Amino acid sequence: MSDPQTPCKLVVLLSGNGSNLQAIIDRIEAGQLNASIVGVISDKADAFGLQRAAQHRIDSTTIIPEPGETREAYDARLQSSIESYQADWIIMAGFMRILSDSLVEKHLGKLINIHPSLLPKYKGLNTHQRVLDAGESLHGASVHFVTPTLDDGPVIMQGQIDVKPDEMPEQLKQRIHQIEHQLYPDVIQLLCQQRIVYTDRSITFDNKTLNTPLTIESPAHVA
Ligand code: GRF
Repeated sequence: MSDPQTPCKLVVLLSGNGSNLQAIIDRIEAGQLNASIVGVISDKADAFGLQRAAQHRIDSTTIIPEPGETREAYDARLQSSIESYQADWIIMAGFMRILSDSLVEKHLGKLINIHPSLLPKYKGLNTHQRVLDAGESLHGASVHFVTPTLDDGPVIMQGQIDVKPDEMPEQLKQRIHQIEHQLYPDVIQLLCQQRIVYTDRSITFDNKTLNTPLTIESPAHVA
């Protein structure tokens, strides 16, 4: 890992809109995140996130799954693309594929994901609808290290909101996105500053074990 003063290098993996990519770009361009996005990788040619990358002159690569291609074969292509960018951190921002264990193991501690729920609750898809169906009063988003089990790695930071009575899934999704757009750049800054470190399935924050996730509301992580 490079000197914490030099911008850390990020490669962002996405499949769709890329609003989280945009939030990271905006934070960097505002001079509030000491990082540089060296590449964006998408598994979908029409992902709007690719246009966002182009608008900001960020290099991108599209890796479309071929018919009948195994996960391992796809991930071998993904791995060479990731490697080619020589990034410090691999940022999954709405990349809608499950990664093979071997790919995850290769990048353990350097691979992070954002998930739209208060993990460990509501792993998997369709979280907003499931939260509403269950009558939850709280919902949120989590940034976590990626480990081979889906949405199961140690959680670095969460942001939460109250679910409004009679809220529709789309409205809830929009509000969760707003939380995500603050959360992800906040976490990336801590990673780049090397204040958050993954060791042996746990997290250290400022050299102390992090027993419960940081929250965006807590001032603990503000430098
Ligand atoms: C976000 O809700 C994120 O939590 C999930 O995928 C969505 C991506 O949204 N993993 P966007 O493409 O960044 O707008």
